[in-house]
Amino acid sequence: MDFYSKIPDLMDEGIIAIDSEGYIKIYNRMAKNIFGINFNEGPSYPEGVIKDGDIVVVADNMLGADDGGMTPEDLKLIGVNPCGVELGYAVVAVGRKGDKTGQGYVKFLKPDQMANELLLKTSVDDIVIESHINFPRRILRIKINDKIYDYEYIWAAGHMVILDGSTKCVKFYQSKGYTSRKEDMKFILMGQHFKGKGRYSKVFETYNKHILELHSDSEVVRKLLNVACGKENDIKGVESLINGIPVRCSIKAVTDGAERIGAILEIVDITELKAMQIEREEALITLKKLQDKMISEKYKRQAFKAIIGQSPKIKQVIEIAKKAAEANSTVLLLGESGTGKNLFAEAIHKASSRRNGPFIYINCASIPENLLESELFGHEKGSFTGAVSEKKGKFEMANGGTIFLDEINELPVTLQAKILHVLQSKSFTRVGGLKSIDVDIRIIAASNKDLEQLVSQGKFRGDLFYRINVISITLPPLRERKEDIYLLIENICNKLEDKINKRKKLSHEVYNILYNYEWPGNIRELENVLERAMLMSGDIIQPGDLPEYILRGNNGNIHGKALVDVKDLGPMRDIVEEAEKRALLKALKITKGNGKKAMELLQIGKTNFYEKLKKFGIESSKFRNNSS
Ligand SMILES: Nc1ncnc2c1ncn2[C@@H]1O[C@H](COP(=O)(O)OP(=O)(O)OP(=O)(O)O)[C@@H](O)[C@H]1O
Ligand SMILES: [Mg+2]
Repeated sequence: MDFYSKIPDLMDEGIIAIDSEGYIKIYNRMAKNIFGINFNEGPSYPEGVIKDGDIVVVADNMLGADDGGMTPEDLKLIGVNPCGVELGYAVVAVGRKGDKTGQGYVKFLKPDQMANELLLKTSVDDIVIESHINFPRRILRIKINDKIYDYEYIWAAGHMVILDGSTKCVKFYQSKGYTSRKEDMKFILMGQHFKGKGRYSKVFETYNKHILELHSDSEVVRKLLNVACGKENDIKGVESLINGIPVRCSIKAVTDGAERIGAILEIVDITELKAMQIEREEALITLKKLQDKMISEKYKRQAFKAIIGQSPKIKQVIEIAKKAAEANSTVLLLGESGTGKNLFAEAIHKASSRRNGPFIYINCASIPENLLESELFGHEKGSFTGAVSEKKGKFEMANGGTIFLDEINELPVTLQAKILHVLQSKSFTRVGGLKSIDVDIRIIAASNKDLEQLVSQGKFRGDLFYRINVISITLPPLRERKEDIYLLIENICNKLEDKINKRKKLSHEVYNILYNYEWPGNIRELENVLERAMLMSGDIIQPGDLPEYILRGNNGNIHGKALVDVKDLGPMRDIVEEAEKRALLKALKITKGNGKKAMELLQIGKTNFYEKLKKFGIESSKFRNNSS
């Protein structure tokens, strides 16, 4: 070898030079290193072929990619049952070539399953074997007793170690450059010869070989050939993949006078740089996901802020509603009147990804049946008397957002069929129209009646019920979450005070009365009662400021403890008289000496009332300015 031919091997870049027909003239040491065609480093083994009984260890981060086209079925070659494994899965396996009994071991992960690693540890014939995929570091690691065989991958690779079935020595291991050696996992498993490594590796002769014989027809190789024959000019610093290895390449034409006689490819291995780049990109994606999650959490918090309550029952439904908001599926809100169905519907919309789209409300009970269809679906001009121009329906207006069908139980049966169709096909036609209009909407429905019961009575279509009942949320009545009453009162009063611009307090007795009442009208009723009391009362809201039916309570008795404690029995007449007297005093106290109201509370006539006041010596005027 002459002096000049040694120079390329001293260079730090990989150099490949070809003539104008593509035959290799220079392939320096660094290029061989980059593409892994120097095999005299690392553990040695002679050339050979896989045999039945050989122990095979596999680590493949993406079955079917860069492994010679492995399929789950191919795992049977080493006695591994491929049940559950699919193309694209990460697979670690240990088995024996030719094992027909299916005693191989396998573990696998779906591509979208988040995991840091996949590890299979086992022992075969007293040899401890580990097959391991480290996803964040992109390392396929096979460990035989204490000896480690690593393979770093960028995107995908199939790594494999084969132990001789009788000597238990390593007879093959995968390493960088397997593509150029044509030693993909599948080929070797199918019985293709492999070349020796280490001291058994032959000097890999590159001189005068055609470039396509060594490298697959990649973008860079094609460009190199084009520059070499004069079809293209010099190319500077492009990133590319050769044999699955990321490289940065420059191509320079070699000329003799005006004649193009070849080209030189200068290559720098940027595997690490690329890995860092990918890591950075992944970190950015994770960051973005985290950011999106934080933003959506923020919106969710804001959206549900208006819903007051700390009781386990309301907290539970809020949690379900937050999850429903994310899911984008149909939600059915059930609950008595005034429990917050409208409030929840809006909150779910605001917390969902559709928050910037429209929120369209429609009350199925309040629109006359003959107009409902055109309200919902719109109509074409002239489709019925009065349809003087075309009109968009609520479903069309809700496109990209949410439509809230309140009191869906009131929907006429004919329209139930049409709504079902919209839910199934996400499209509808206007009244009198032929064109089908596609919509992207989320439906929230509410009912204060038991829909299931209506289905069994034939008043509501079963198929529609099942379609809207994807996520159903039943809002608890106020009487089942009494611990929230104080919070609700405080909240409602604050809002009302802002409205009337005055601060007012509730007496303890009022709190007690409101707490003990059963609230058939739920929060709406509580709001109405408080609003009325606020307007009627002085600085402190007293029992007398509450409506009579609240004072009377749910069982019709005036609120409070027993009027007479019949611990000490005496003559019946005295007991009754004592009770009457106390009832009068209490009624006057509550009504602040308002005789007419007191009579109403006690449900007695005027004459009777005044007679009794006289009899017990009670003066109603004394109660008028008494504030407690
Ligand atoms: N958890 C809650 N926190 C604060 N306010 C609430 C809550 N639930 C309901 N409200 C208030 O109570 C009133 C009634 O609520 P909403 O209209 O949502 O009830 P609804 O279940 O739709 O009643 P209906 O069946 O009569 O239509 C509204 O003013 C609403 O703001
Ligand atoms: Mg409502």
